[in-house]
Amino acid sequence: MTAPIFRFKGRAIPFRPGESVAAALDAAGVTLLGHDALGQANRYFCGIGACQNCVALIDGVVRETCLTLAAQGMVVVPMEDAGG
Ligand code: FES
Repeated sequence: MTAPIFRFKGRAIPFRPGESVAAALDAAGVTLLGHDALGQANRYFCGIGACQNCVALIDGVVRETCLTLAAQGMVVVPMEDAGG
């Protein structure tokens, strides 16, 4: 049985059911989620939705990757690549 996947920057990221997007990215070795408007690294930090450092465009909606459960076929785009 193959693991479900979502896409981040075109890369297939496998995840376990119930895993957050941020946790799955971290497990896949993705520690940089992009950069903010000041050029600071966006990353998985607090894990509880407090710091807003992990936000990304998820299926067209800005969401915290640490609070969003991964889903099959989901598309995750760094904010710097989201055009806004
Ligand atoms: S890691 Fe802090 S809000 Fe997601």
